[in-house]
Amino acid sequence: MIRRIHHVGIVVERLDVAYRFYRDTLGLPLLKEATLADQGVRAALLAAGESEIELLEPLDPANGVGRFLARRGEGLHHLCFETDVDRMLAQLTGRGIELLDAAPRPGLAGRVAFLHPRACAGVLVELASPPPHAPGSPPSPLDLKRLVIGSREPRETATRLQSLFDLPEVAMNGGPRTMLGVGRGALLVVPADEVGGIEGMVALSLVAQDFADLMERCEGATLACLRGTGEVTIEPASSHGVHLHISRYRFP
Ligand code: CO
Repeated sequence: MIRRIHHVGIVVERLDVAYRFYRDTLGLPLLKEATLADQGVRAALLAAGESEIELLEPLDPANGVGRFLARRGEGLHHLCFETDVDRMLAQLTGRGIELLDAAPRPGLAGRVAFLHPRACAGVLVELASPPPHAPGSPPSPLDLKRLVIGSREPRETATRLQSLFDLPEVAMNGGPRTMLGVGRGALLVVPADEVGGIEGMVALSLVAQDFADLMERCEGATLACLRGTGEVTIEPASSHGVHLHISRYRFP
């Protein structure tokens, strides 16, 4: 029922500043930008392969996103799955799952509804049904492949996410990490102590179509990053609060 990670939402102080990194340095095509009055945000979607990245600028420090920014700073805010939002909500309601929206409402990604983070191991999850004839995303230089989630109880968190969204587990070589497949992407649940004690969404993994070109762009922008062979990690200071692992290779 879950088709793909539709997008990952990142709260930023200012959209125009965040565009300098996400659109201009990384080269992600800007798909749309709009004010969502009911959420009190100016929001934008940028293409990142099968998925998108949503940037959210709060318009009022007192609303939910505004308070998130004041409390946590810029960074990962929510995860959105593409699904049949009506069917999925009916199913979750029938199971007594705690929701923030009892019925779908218009959002940037189509008709959307949010689950309560308490229901999803502390992760804020949005469900979206894009408009029926939504155009496909244009080619992008980076594909979003994985969202990394830190948890004190990684097995429990993975089981919870699996039971809510019926996600297949992707085989790994044992150990405390669990990977759940979502379309061509994945959620990777890891022990919080592997990621600096952070619980909840902590990092994104992307794959670069042209890694040499990406490295040139990063050097031109003088980013805080750690370079390896065939991969680079861009530090939150340069990426509006998000650890970005960008690799040259396609994951198996
Ligand atoms: Co969203």
